[in-house]
Amino acid sequence: MSVRIARAPGRVNLIGDHTDYTGGLVFPMAVDRWTDIRFEPSDQVELTSADESEPVTLPLRVDDPTTVSPAWGKYVAGVVSEMAPAHGIRGHVSTTIPIGGGMSSSHALEVAVALALGFEGSVVELAKLTQRAENRASGVPTGIMDQFSIAGGVAGHALLMDCGALTITPVPFPDDVDVVVQFIAHRTLVGSAYADRVRECAAAEAIIGPLREATSVAAASIDDPVVRKRAMHVVAENQRVRDFADALRAHDLATAGELMLASHASLRDLYDTSTAQMDAAVAHVASLPGVHGVRMTGGGFGGCIVALAEPGALDEGWRVRAVDGAQLLDADAA
Ligand code: GLA
Repeated sequence: MSVRIARAPGRVNLIGDHTDYTGGLVFPMAVDRWTDIRFEPSDQVELTSADESEPVTLPLRVDDPTTVSPAWGKYVAGVVSEMAPAHGIRGHVSTTIPIGGGMSSSHALEVAVALALGFEGSVVELAKLTQRAENRASGVPTGIMDQFSIAGGVAGHALLMDCGALTITPVPFPDDVDVVVQFIAHRTLVGSAYADRVRECAAAEAIIGPLREATSVAAASIDDPVVRKRAMHVVAENQRVRDFADALRAHDLATAGELMLASHASLRDLYDTSTAQMDAAVAHVASLPGVHGVRMTGGGFGGCIVALAEPGALDEGWRVRAVDGAQLLDADAA
């Protein structure tokens, strides 16, 4: 019987956070840590994991993924419930993505499960399906960035993504720059203020229209001080993504680094998704020789920071490289 491998990378976002769920711009890359599912056909979904004591066993029809246990099975169940696949799998999950480390280990699992269950379609369709799976499994209204970058990664490139048009423009990533991810504190977006931010952005859009098209003048005109701050972040962050992509294309690392620091300050002061611990870590790394820029990355309230630095300048953290997106492999070829 043929054994296959569904392989999905992790991701890190270089700049453009809390913009995806208003159809804004983000700039992530798929990174060289992977979740593999080694599988063969079955009439249900049976998965074991190298990192979990309890296996997941599911029928091919799942109504409510939130009721599934063990906990990691909810993500599998989210994908199964979205796909209602014709055939199941029996397989084993292993990963080199730090679990809960802010590099999208759960999103990589979702994308790998979809491929293993026979998903056929475009990168955009794969990203949308696994985003719905995540939203249903976690109950958190997260955006599409994570699944889109995992599905659509391009080796050697960062990804300028338009989360409204759902397009990816790969931008070559320079060889002489290290991307280093440092894990600061464990967090989960479940129960965090993430959903509040989504609501606050919707409130801003009810006043000034789509944030992806809004000007900073319009954002600054909003009366409610909290909604105003959120809108000001999103509008400026979209522009920072454009400027960052331009800076990278021009190999202007000083400007790229300044934009990262400005993004962090905005997430801290306007969006309130940083923590004192993350601010201290960013300030420390920014002060080190050879560092171009550094910021918190992802959903926030803990998680990771990401730095751009001269090769070898940072010895703490995970150095990551941009890789291709998720794919199905023959076990012999892997
Ligand atoms: C989490 C979500 C993403 C995105 C980021 C913030 O990672 O899953 O959709 O909103 O937070 O940029």
